[in-house]
Amino acid sequence: MNRHPWLLCLTAAAVATMGPVGALAQTERARIKVDPDRVIGEVHPHVFGNFTEHLGRCIYGGIFEEGSPLADADGFRRDVMDAARDMGVTLLRWPGGNFASGYHWKDGIGPRADRPVRRDHAWGDIESNHFGTHEFLLYCERLGVEPYLCINAGLGSVDEARQWVEYTNEAGSTYWADQRRKNGREEPWGVKYWGLGNEIDGPWQLGHKNAGDYATFALEAAKAMRRADESIKLIASGSSNFAPGADWVGWNRTVLERLKNEIDYISLHTYVGNRTDDFEQYLAFAQDLDDRIEVVKGQIRAVSVGNPRARPIHIAFDEWNVWYRTLVPGSTEYEIARTRLEEHYNYEDALAMAVFLNAFLRHADVVKMANMAQLVNVIAPIFTSPEGLYLQTIYFPLAEYAKQKGNLSLDVLVESPQYKPDRGRALGYLDVSATRHPATGQTYLNVLNRSASADITARIDVENAPSGPVGVWELNHPDLKATHTFGKDDVVRPKTSTTNVKTSGGSFDYTFPKHSLTILTWK
Ligand code: AHR
Repeated sequence: MNRHPWLLCLTAAAVATMGPVGALAQTERARIKVDPDRVIGEVHPHVFGNFTEHLGRCIYGGIFEEGSPLADADGFRRDVMDAARDMGVTLLRWPGGNFASGYHWKDGIGPRADRPVRRDHAWGDIESNHFGTHEFLLYCERLGVEPYLCINAGLGSVDEARQWVEYTNEAGSTYWADQRRKNGREEPWGVKYWGLGNEIDGPWQLGHKNAGDYATFALEAAKAMRRADESIKLIASGSSNFAPGADWVGWNRTVLERLKNEIDYISLHTYVGNRTDDFEQYLAFAQDLDDRIEVVKGQIRAVSVGNPRARPIHIAFDEWNVWYRTLVPGSTEYEIARTRLEEHYNYEDALAMAVFLNAFLRHADVVKMANMAQLVNVIAPIFTSPEGLYLQTIYFPLAEYAKQKGNLSLDVLVESPQYKPDRGRALGYLDVSATRHPATGQTYLNVLNRSASADITARIDVENAPSGPVGVWELNHPDLKATHTFGKDDVVRPKTSTTNVKTSGGSFDYTFPKHSLTILTWK
């Protein structure tokens, strides 16, 4: 059975793009219109969230390595923390992933030497429990990011989830708050974001449930957790299973109908890969992202329409990335885990980051959280050894887009030459998003040219078109398969420059090179 069917179902087409479909000349023409009044919504800083799971070398040997000369006194790898900080991470999800569905948080508190060693039945590894709630929340404080805890909605219980909230957030003297104090933490952490389980729609998940059973569990968990702290924000486990025949729309419908008065977010997960070794087909997954987000947005609206007091619900895209080399469809989680999911990324994967981020920005009204999966070693932008680390190719777009957090996303008109993916509708070669800083007026135009062969010159129409210098950030490489490794992570690096554009009648021309990502900035 295919345990990770989302990989098989990514097709694409265009919504915001128009233009001819057909063979390309070496240089093509396009038009991009940026209207600062057409605001979609704020790019919430949590869109630049990340994820750390007890899996492979993400925690142990990744963010945490006791006794390493590269670690601080608490065992946190300083080099990894610096790289994560420079990448602009804002929020961190933990402890999983699939791991969360078999994890009992009480195993990870108290003196380390007394913590039980267990087999993790999600991935088959031995779990020392040396990294637990205190370590994770201290890590978040030190990194300066918001923590996001995911409860065990697989094999765990409602009361266990409630007690976890009491342990982390209770200010008074109760049994679990006093246990926290006994373990060295006086003040409550006040953890705000709580996931009501991980991928419970997937048959691969420990404690997988049907939508109705999940909703019953999650409702009771939400009620009990809110009795411990009514201020927490809850994320329901939405669709992750996009296998042919899997009723992902039905899953979300049930979850939203039953939980609409309790939750603040519904999650979505998507992983992609270049399985047919065709660059343009690979990056055509954009339309699936747009479709999935828009379907769920409609479903959210459907459960709130006509109710002025409806609870606002947003999408938390809390797992997304490229993952296919270390994932053989049909294999079990234990088999997959042998690779430790140590994906080595290349240049075209870096461009795939822009497809995801542009989709999130284009839906900034509803996608208010997203968690790139994962931070280090496991399908990750940062890759370590005991001696050091290197930055993978995918690191650079992540770091650059994060600078747009808090900006206003703009609804951009794009007329681009198109192509027809093997499956799906026609799709523009240019994949575009734009944001504007609300105070300074600085505009960012993010343009991915996913043509393998043609440079595309766009006329950029913009009110108050810049007459001075335009900042250019460009990621490009002649070899789509170029990779990084230890001591050589400068192969795929962005180039920055400024260019003086010639403005005529509120527009200027810019040529976006084939297979490149360009971010233009101007005031
Ligand atoms: O990120 C790796 C795994 O992918 C996570 O554990 C799970 O949630 C998803 O299937």
